[in-house]
Amino acid sequence: MLNFTFHNPTKIVFGTNAIERIDELLPADARVLILLGGGSARRNGTLGEVRAALGEREVQEFDGIEANPTYETLMRAVEQVRREKLDFLLGVGGGSVIDGSKFVAAAVPFEGDPWQIMLSHGAEVRHALPLASVLTLPATGSEMNCGSVITRHESKTKLAFLNPRVYPVFSILDPTKTYTLPARQIANGIVDAYVHIAEQYLTYPVYGRVQDRFAEGLMQTLIDIGPRCLNETENYELRANMMWVTTMALNGLIGAGVPHDWATHMLGHEITALHEIDHARTLAIVLPSMLQVRRQQKRAKVLQYADRVWQLRDGDEEQRIDQAIRRTAEFFESLGIPTRFSAYGLGTEVIEPLVEQLVAHGMTELGEHRDITPEISRRVYHGAL
Ligand code: NZQ
Ligand code: ZN
Repeated sequence: MLNFTFHNPTKIVFGTNAIERIDELLPADARVLILLGGGSARRNGTLGEVRAALGEREVQEFDGIEANPTYETLMRAVEQVRREKLDFLLGVGGGSVIDGSKFVAAAVPFEGDPWQIMLSHGAEVRHALPLASVLTLPATGSEMNCGSVITRHESKTKLAFLNPRVYPVFSILDPTKTYTLPARQIANGIVDAYVHIAEQYLTYPVYGRVQDRFAEGLMQTLIDIGPRCLNETENYELRANMMWVTTMALNGLIGAGVPHDWATHMLGHEITALHEIDHARTLAIVLPSMLQVRRQQKRAKVLQYADRVWQLRDGDEEQRIDQAIRRTAEFFESLGIPTRFSAYGLGTEVIEPLVEQLVAHGMTELGEHRDITPEISRRVYHGAL
């Protein structure tokens, strides 16, 4: 096992009516900005519940954080916080709203050009406002991690930053808040979390037995509940499990002491930035091809995955690896998420611009061995046509 420090300061309040607890979790004199997406939380009553829980506090709202939140929009929230001297950010929404809240939290006290937060991948963040979240879309894990992914619209640049100062102070996880989600977003959430687990598990063995068993258990849970989550909109038990799996998939626990990959995410971010395909869908395109191209480097773990997650025990090693990759793609497809560029109307012509963007963003040494060059990324994109 690799050396590690594990510290996750986010308090999780989980279950029905958890929103009521906001009152006791926030300082009575907090001056709060509620950050919102395109309107779902306003329409389905979640915002009203949050406002009721905030009681007499000074509260303002900021609407319009897009799916794949943009720097341009978030800078307007930064201005509002500075102008109105607000001191606590409460994101109510999915990963985009929470990621956006993290950027605002870091940008408000930032000295200099806030885009530098993204260019330094968070290294230059010295201060941040406190933030918290009410999660309405289980997918990204943003509610319990210190990562954020922001897009600069004008240059079609999608970058991630990490900094421990932007862990949410608390996150409210009420599974009933997922009942209004369209099937497409449920499918996205399952696939995103599945790929988060894969990128911390399908690397090379370091004998992190606990991490491996956790990762395998989380994947198996997603395989078990995924299709039913799509069809049974108001099944509390299923939605509660989905919410907890997606949080656990990227809160640092399974990733402590093991190598990480993240190449699939980096290749996927470029697809979203250029073609506006949902984050999870880009991962479904890239992951099966990545596993194919990297089958030698990932061999031991893919064989373990084939055995323990998919119970594949027939055939030789090459056949079992092929089957594991096929089953992974079939799982995504079974949720209604296509795994090939062609299904999104994209062909060979998209590949060179994607590779150019990877190079422009410094994504030239990816993967757990830092040996995924642009040439290998090109092969991965080609394999997904
Ligand atoms: O904007 P509104 O109107 O709120 O609607 C949203 C949005 O259209 C809707 N929605 C959310 N909750 C709902 C709901 N609709 C009905 N009922 C509800 N309860 O869902 C749509 C998608 O929301 P979004 O927040 O964009 O989705 P998701 O949670 O999948 O977040 C995706 C973003 O997170 C980033 C992605 O790159 C992408 O930008 N990621 C963040 C990570 C992190 N911070 O650790 C890791 C991930 O790998 C990922 O990169
Ligand atoms: Zn993701």
